[in-house]
Amino acid sequence: MAEQTSSLSAGRLRGRTIVVTGAASGIGRATASLFVQEGARVAVMDINLAAAEAAAEAIGGYPVQIDVTDEASVKRAIAAAAAEFGGIDGLVNSAGIVALNTIAETTLETWKRVIDVNLTGAFLVCRETSQWLRQAEGSTIVNISSAQALQPVATAGAYAASKGGVLSFSKALAVDLAPDVRVNTICPGLVDTPMNEGLKKSADDGPPVPLDKYLLRRWAGPDEIAAAILFLTSHESSYVTGTTLAVDGGRTFH
Ligand SMILES: NC(=O)c1ccc[n+]([C@@H]2O[C@H](COP(=O)([O-])OP(=O)(O)OC[C@H]3O[C@@H](n4cnc5c(N)ncnc54)[C@H](O)[C@@H]3O)[C@@H](O)[C@H]2O)c1
Repeated sequence: MAEQTSSLSAGRLRGRTIVVTGAASGIGRATASLFVQEGARVAVMDINLAAAEAAAEAIGGYPVQIDVTDEASVKRAIAAAAAEFGGIDGLVNSAGIVALNTIAETTLETWKRVIDVNLTGAFLVCRETSQWLRQAEGSTIVNISSAQALQPVATAGAYAASKGGVLSFSKALAVDLAPDVRVNTICPGLVDTPMNEGLKKSADDGPPVPLDKYLLRRWAGPDEIAAAILFLTSHESSYVTGTTLAVDGGRTFH
């Protein structure tokens, strides 16, 4: 039985078949859930199979294990979704990891892992999915970058580099896949998800995470990011491609 978080569905994605990576948690899960409510069939993909299965059962999606850093795994997962749905006409790349270290503290291993998951992972999933997206009408990709790509902080070197890469890659892809596939990027600010548990805990134990740059003076909920992803996936953004949308409570424009 699919969980119901809203009764206001307008069926904006009726008939669509969409892959969401990182869909077992946080922004990806909120997006997968909203998309199902809007009428899409959704492949709930995550490296954590048990969590993907639990999320898919709660949401009403189709669980698939994927490690976005592993080419063979990406090929298998995308082929499984295409076979299940008879094609794919939308993709949201939300799988990601964060590391917050100054450059002196950043090991080569951490640097490589962050680039591998956040940037190479997005590349592999986009490449494998593009063959299906090109065959479908009105197809879309939304990649999740970060406000750290627009205005990095001191401890975000590897993360900001990976997310800056996602941003530039998405623009190149919008050109490459035009006019068949629209490709856009979302840059969230601080979102209340498991990714930020460490930050929240340190704020509980010490000084609060400073929100003074956030004009709205609060963190986002994952549903607020999902709503922006829905806009860029639905027909309502039919003339929008190659753009970057900051969903960051006003942190990065000033
Ligand atoms: N939470 C924030 O404040 C914030 C801000 C800006 C951008 N983002 C970005 O949004 C996206 C989602 O973040 P979130 O906050 O929902 O995080 P999250 O930790 O709640 O969810 C990330 C999901 O990605 C999955 N994942 C990690 N490595 C993977 C891999 N190799 N293959 C497949 N799946 C993998 C995890 O298992 C997890 O389910 C990430 O790309 C993140 O960088 C988050």
